[in-house]
Amino acid sequence: MTTAAPAAPAYVRELARYIPGKSIEDVARDLHLDPKSIVKLASNENPRGPSPGVLAAIAAAAAEATRYPDGNGFALKAALSGRLGVDPAQIVLGNGSNDILELATQAFLRPGDEAIYAQHAFAVYPLATRARGAIGVEVPAKNFGHDLPRMRAAVTPRTRIVFVANPNNPTGTFVAAAELLAFIESIPPEVLLVLDEAYNEYLEPADRCDSVGWVARFPNLLVSRTFSKAHGLAALRIGYGVMNADVADMLNRVRQPFNVNALAQAAALAALADSAYVDASRALNRTGLAQLAAGFAALGLPSLPSHGNFVLVKVGDADQVYQRLLAQGVIVRPVANYGLPEWLRVSVGLGAENERFLAVLATAMGR
Ligand SMILES: Cc1ncc(COP(=O)(O)O)c(C=O)c1O
Repeated sequence: MTTAAPAAPAYVRELARYIPGKSIEDVARDLHLDPKSIVKLASNENPRGPSPGVLAAIAAAAAEATRYPDGNGFALKAALSGRLGVDPAQIVLGNGSNDILELATQAFLRPGDEAIYAQHAFAVYPLATRARGAIGVEVPAKNFGHDLPRMRAAVTPRTRIVFVANPNNPTGTFVAAAELLAFIESIPPEVLLVLDEAYNEYLEPADRCDSVGWVARFPNLLVSRTFSKAHGLAALRIGYGVMNADVADMLNRVRQPFNVNALAQAAALAALADSAYVDASRALNRTGLAQLAAGFAALGLPSLPSHGNFVLVKVGDADQVYQRLLAQGVIVRPVANYGLPEWLRVSVGLGAENERFLAVLATAMGR
């Protein structure tokens, strides 16, 4: 009898685990700090907390917690269908939009296939790709953003998926509609193009493109969105994808029957109806980005213009600065794993949180 644990395939053993931002509880425990004194600007969450309407919807749904959720998400899909002008059969709900990204790789990638993504793009693309034994093709960034012509040139007969994050996390870069559309038109129809719009609601309306409308023209286009960011529901894990109904059918075959819980569905339905919350979140974010940019400029630190609810700032020895901030109860995100060892990613918080962060940063930088 052997005592060795069963061996996973090499492509699983070689995966580097996704490292999430530290939680308030982690930091409070490790550093013996009062959780209330800690500022977390590390996971691009909405700092405003859920709206009263969303909290009421969650409480009402909690009363039915002994029941399985609606595995087809009928009510939420109906609401999204009305909002987006697509058939409910074109919508797949996910346990976060992360789930949609995973489902796309599960349905479309075989070992040895290729998926393309940009350098400094969201870390889940390589992870989900490699978890299928597929080959991740990272295309060098241009000015920290996606180099779409170069990504097009990387497409080979083995390419099954191309990922584009718009805006991208962690760089906050953004591709305008005309350039994006030309890129989508150039992608062979047998290649699935996953357009990740997790931060779409933070874009100013004039900057948004008709990505969901494009799905009717491009059966290989999958647009993913989330309720985690501007809608403020990160803890509940709910997102969705809009795609051709045949593609949706494939994702639905590989997803868990009850992948989205009932509280999340009820909360998302309430959040979707509350456009004032999203508008106020966008406005707060705009102010916060300006506050942080001004603070970085005052400290003489380069930062990247961002279209998301976070910003990259160049601090030099980022690991050291990160640790110093942490010791003062301010959590941000190191991005060395994104090939950006001199930068920190800071999520936009409430005004007072941004202010506290900037003050602690000044001290951490010896200014
Ligand atoms: C670009 C991007 N896509 C997708 C996600 C996944 O978010 P969620 O699973 O919470 O929808 C994130 C989360 O940070 C992200 O930054």
